[in-house]
Amino acid sequence: MAKGKKSVFFCQNCGHEENKWLGQCPACKEWNTFVEEKMSVTTAKTAGAVRLNENKLATLSQVSMEKELRMTTQIQELDRVLGGGIVPGSLILVGGDPGIGKSTLLLQVCRNLSNMKKSVLYISGEESLKQIKMRAERLGDFSETLSLFCETNLETVRAVIEKNRPQIVIIDSIQTMYSEEVTSAPGSVSQVRESTNVFMQLAKGLGITIFIVGHVTKEGTVAGPRVLEHMVDTVLYFEGDRHASYRILRGVKNRFGSTNEIGVFEMRRDGLAEVANPSEFMLSGKPEDATGSVVACSMEGTRPILIEIQALVCQTSFGMPRRTAAGTDYNRVNLLMAVLEKRLGLPLSNCDAYVNIAGGIKMNEPAIDLGIVLAIVSSYKNRPIEEKTIVFGEVGLSGEVRAVSMPEQRVAEAKKLGFTTCILPAVSLESVSNITGVEVIGVKNINEAIRLI
Ligand code: TYD
Ligand code: MG
Repeated sequence: MAKGKKSVFFCQNCGHEENKWLGQCPACKEWNTFVEEKMSVTTAKTAGAVRLNENKLATLSQVSMEKELRMTTQIQELDRVLGGGIVPGSLILVGGDPGIGKSTLLLQVCRNLSNMKKSVLYISGEESLKQIKMRAERLGDFSETLSLFCETNLETVRAVIEKNRPQIVIIDSIQTMYSEEVTSAPGSVSQVRESTNVFMQLAKGLGITIFIVGHVTKEGTVAGPRVLEHMVDTVLYFEGDRHASYRILRGVKNRFGSTNEIGVFEMRRDGLAEVANPSEFMLSGKPEDATGSVVACSMEGTRPILIEIQALVCQTSFGMPRRTAAGTDYNRVNLLMAVLEKRLGLPLSNCDAYVNIAGGIKMNEPAIDLGIVLAIVSSYKNRPIEEKTIVFGEVGLSGEVRAVSMPEQRVAEAKKLGFTTCILPAVSLESVSNITGVEVIGVKNINEAIRLI
């Protein structure tokens, strides 16, 4: 049975591999995502990670560790998400919807690093030199250590990197790179995998830091960067509404730091600007004395962020009440409404409820539960919550308010922004007792909390 080429089927969503076509991917449960690809080369090359000397075993104490030298990008919000700067020789994937600002951010990184006399190579497979120049004009002055290169052929790109040995390389984007050794089209799973493999070998072998841009499309026509997530060291996702001006950079995977941190940026005429105080930014435009509006506090990594939770509760005009949750978990909102119904006897089952985190930011920390509960009750009872009050606390199924982590930081952030009252879990009272200037009110259950408003 002579077979020249072998057909393999890949899930375009998660990269799962099968020998036959399937309607539903067994790995990620997405429908209709399998595509056939002819394999003429084995893509199962061993990953180019650093080869250890296999004959010699080592104990942890024998492994020498020089102080890790991190390179700052001069963009604090980015440094934070990376865990304190760029680690040399790492492979960093920056994902996000088209037009969200990936190329802009990376060009700004190029500008800062090249101004620090690092050799930087920006490889674009999407834009011409002119287009990059036009963008760069908006971003400010660039030094001569930045080189640009427009190319999509993987072998050429590899040769150029090996010859020039820059310290930092940007690949914009991985979906445009194609290898002649792989027969399928650019952007397909095999091409993306092959390209990432090559870049991984270059990064680890030559100690070059490589940033890879990856597009995510809802249609799944382009191989999602999901496939790459396993191969790279760090995965950053850009989120935010393309029509709103702010952008959030979130670490999803990081071999060199925590993944909880976020970076907040604002898209301006001259590129992405850092937002040093996101709470202030998120609360701008908060209505005064409005019902159903509560300020809650969520921890994003080590940073407390104050957000406004809005709820609108009204009588349903159909048999089935409508519920929506924007920016937070829909099921969580339903659960909290069930708790309110059962524990407080509020007849919410014939009410529509719309819950929204203002500003379009996504928050899923349980500490905002109490905020959601109070916003719903405030809207239902048509009673505004006092200005200058923030709330946080997790709500359990029996209506109890449970402790959350880092209450001191949250109260301190509220104080910094001029809030005078904090409603928080009673068990956390002790840990915030040394903060003065803010009235702290501990509550044991939602009943106590609601009596306060
Ligand atoms: P871009 O970085 O090209 O997005 P991506 O590479 O993720 O596809 O961002 C493009 C958007 O950003 C575009 O809609 C224009 C806007 N933009 C600004 O508002 N100000 C700027 O200075 C720049 C360079 C872009
Ligand atoms: Mg781009």
